[in-house]
Amino acid sequence: MSTTSKSEILERARLYVRQELGRDSSGHDWWHIVRITAMARRLAAEERADLFVCELAALLHDVADEKLNTSKEAGLGKVRSWLEQAEVGPADREHVMEIISTMSYGGGHGQPMRTLEGRVVQDADRLDALGAIGIARTFAYGGWKGSPMHDPELPPRERMTSEQYRSEQGTAINHFYEKLLKLKQRMNTDTARAIAEERHRFMEEFLEQFYREWDAEDANGL
Ligand code: ADP
Ligand code: NI
Repeated sequence: MSTTSKSEILERARLYVRQELGRDSSGHDWWHIVRITAMARRLAAEERADLFVCELAALLHDVADEKLNTSKEAGLGKVRSWLEQAEVGPADREHVMEIISTMSYGGGHGQPMRTLEGRVVQDADRLDALGAIGIARTFAYGGWKGSPMHDPELPPRERMTSEQYRSEQGTAINHFYEKLLKLKQRMNTDTARAIAEERHRFMEEFLEQFYREWDAEDANGL
């Protein structure tokens, strides 16, 4: 029988994840976790999902990321060991493992998440790629990778193939077309869809202003 309370487990998870991710600048820093955990709680309440599983999966979801581990398997093994030593019950443990192992892999073309909790946590993670925060993360990631922010001489952004995109030709601006502007169609829950709608509009406005400034056509009323 597990003797550790759920709130104690969550507190331990926070300490563990904070120490694991620290000041990572590839977009998987501790504050990304704090934001998506808050969003997962909000969505879980609205959608009547299990709060404990949603919060725990949100906290741990990036510890297993391939970018931070030698392999996906190694990352998942690390999370499983942590869940075992933290005395998370077997049903919740398997559920959290299922969520984080299926969540972000497959570039959005994977199978739909099997459980409501999985759909909630995936939505929370996707929402953090949108809006003002999503814009900031995109440019931070571009800087980390050494990509230019924009290059008007590249093939028309809508027509760039994923091949070209991957071969280092990607720019931060291109990432909006490749991924961010498509995400609102991919939300699982109604609550996330409504939030995504607003964040999507904000990104569209941002892009319009970006191009106006790029072409010195902004502030036309002066
Ligand atoms: P997560 O695993 O949290 O869903 P990713 O690892 O895919 O996120 O990316 C982290 C952040 O960097 C996200 O905000 C994402 O939109 C952004 N990002 C991912 N790939 C690129 C790229 N090629 N250019 C610019 N930003 C990117
Ligand atoms: Ni994430």
